[in-house]
Amino acid sequence: MTTLEIRDLRVTVEADDAPKEILRGVDLTIRSGETHAIMGPNGSGKSTLAYAVAGHPKYTVTGGQVLLDGEDVLAMGVDERAQAGLFLAMQYPVEVPGVTVSNFLRTAKTAVDGEAPKLRTWVKDVKGAMENLRMDASFAERNVNEGFSGGEKKRHEILQMELLQPKIAILDETDSGLDVDALKVVSEGVNRVKETTGLGVMLITHYTRILRYIQPDFVHVFVDGRVAESGGPDLADRLENEGYDRYLTAGV
Ligand SMILES: Nc1ncnc2c1ncn2[C@@H]1O[C@H](COP(=O)(O)OP(=O)(O)OP(=O)(O)O)[C@@H](O)[C@H]1O
Ligand SMILES: [Mg+2]
Repeated sequence: MTTLEIRDLRVTVEADDAPKEILRGVDLTIRSGETHAIMGPNGSGKSTLAYAVAGHPKYTVTGGQVLLDGEDVLAMGVDERAQAGLFLAMQYPVEVPGVTVSNFLRTAKTAVDGEAPKLRTWVKDVKGAMENLRMDASFAERNVNEGFSGGEKKRHEILQMELLQPKIAILDETDSGLDVDALKVVSEGVNRVKETTGLGVMLITHYTRILRYIQPDFVHVFVDGRVAESGGPDLADRLENEGYDRYLTAGV
């Protein structure tokens, strides 16, 4: 049983002249097996939350805490966070020129586990995970994200997640740009990891479509750098119908 606890998190980003406050006191607790959907208008700070928890150097934490089973995540380096069981799938994945998917996955697995995976089981695991995600075997020999289509990038991230077996995954718009079939395949991948490992998920999304496949236990509305409202799955439908006006005009 794992708990990720985000308490009163405040984060600034280095803007042109002065630091700009983006997160203004975020409170959120995610436990093993739970799926939390984060929805909210563009620019409200959802990706900033994901990056700050993952330890991206551009984001400065000015207050609050992030605890993984009581351990101070903010005191950990990026690698240590991954070793502790945190996984981030980014909204805009970066290219890694000259590094094949196959090598990348093996290096990441070795870094996270602290030892190289046994070759025979590893090759089998990669093959199995790729088949599950309906990825062609030739994909393993391509360079990471180089020339990948939007859908291929997202599948590659879920492939990483299946193989790294994190405790808590933050998925930032994993559904964006996926066709209906790919959305199903990717969602099945997330659900498989949830079922087999009890993964806790923070799922950032703009659309309820993915929530029909990956069912959230909680839905949070993110507005202006904090959680403005939390509720059950119904809240997502309400947001899709009504939009965010209610929160914005209320000056939350
Ligand atoms: N590196 C940066 N430099 C300058 N401003 C930034 C930086 N990163 C984030 N911001 C600003 O912080 C705010 C929140 O951005 P963020 O990407 O977290 O929003 P978001 O909720 O993920 O939006 P979207 O739904 O469009 O993905 C925006 O105003 C954005 O311009
Ligand atoms: Mg974003």
